[in-house]
Amino acid sequence: KHLIAEVEAFKATSKEEVEQFRIKYLGSKGLIKGLFAEFKNVDAEFRKDFGKALNNLKVAANDKVSSLNETLDNTVSDASVYGDLTRPGEAIELGARHPISIVKNQIIDVFNRIGFTVSEGPEIEDDWHNFSALNLPEYHPARDMQDTFFIEKNPDTLLRTHTSSVQVRYMEENKPPIRTISPGRVFRNEDISARAHCIFHQVEGLYIDTDVSFADLKQTLLYFTKEMFGKSKIRLRPSYFPFTEPSAEVDIYWGLETETDYRITKGTGWLEIMGCGMVDPNVLTNCNIDPTQYSGYAFGMGIERIAMLLYQIPDIRMFYENDVRFLEQFKSVI
Ligand code: PHE
Repeated sequence: KHLIAEVEAFKATSKEEVEQFRIKYLGSKGLIKGLFAEFKNVDAEFRKDFGKALNNLKVAANDKVSSLNETLDNTVSDASVYGDLTRPGEAIELGARHPISIVKNQIIDVFNRIGFTVSEGPEIEDDWHNFSALNLPEYHPARDMQDTFFIEKNPDTLLRTHTSSVQVRYMEENKPPIRTISPGRVFRNEDISARAHCIFHQVEGLYIDTDVSFADLKQTLLYFTKEMFGKSKIRLRPSYFPFTEPSAEVDIYWGLETETDYRITKGTGWLEIMGCGMVDPNVLTNCNIDPTQYSGYAFGMGIERIAMLLYQIPDIRMFYENDVRFLEQFKSVI
């Protein structure tokens, strides 16, 4: 009886253990064979019970072996499903955002906080949105400044030379008050060098409402440079753009602290970061906005230039080479 209990209690986690169990009880030199051999020595009066008990034991052992084998066949071990659960994890390679995206997102954040929306438009433009609506009629000499890539002539189809084209589209579709920035890729047929590329990115801003003045523009620029660079010393130099009047270039005082800064600022400490001005009344009229009722300011900056300043990148071509040694350095920046 105690042997039957022992047999029934037996557990195994592998086929080898089951086989050892089988040999121990049912093998040709096993326990049960041995007990059968004892049969003849048992007193006649106990033989019947002994035989019964022995048979029960044999059946129990056989059942045990087949049921254990069956369950082991049906259980798939954790290790074969999940692999080794105790193995240490492997680090996943994380990518980095491209510095242009990082800086673009920063600029968007800064202007979002003062109510500017983000607007986008096509990279392939028509003459109207890139030039004519912006007070640059055909044969206007300022068109040459833009080094345009034409796809087709008459009627002109071209790669936009600035995202001012998006602002024209936005004014055509929205009534003032308008507060929007247009980030995007622009194209100019320029010789590629450390300072210039035929593809680059801009963020242009537009604010139109009643009574918008140059003072509003200056204050916004001051806010922007403070938020973006942590520097609040700026100056406005008179300039010319066909779509703004008056127009100005914005310089930021960068100081002369390091060799890199020195190279970028060419020794004066002042650094040009964007163009701006009051939207020319002709532009408003072209976009169906009444210039006697509304006024506005606009500004535009190159993202690469801002990124070069912020991260001390000496050559604009690095943005487009996709050298991972360059890109990896932006892993820690969100
Ligand atoms: N569109 C100008 C450029 O691409 C930048 C600019 C925008 C200047 C708005 C003034 C006002 O150079």
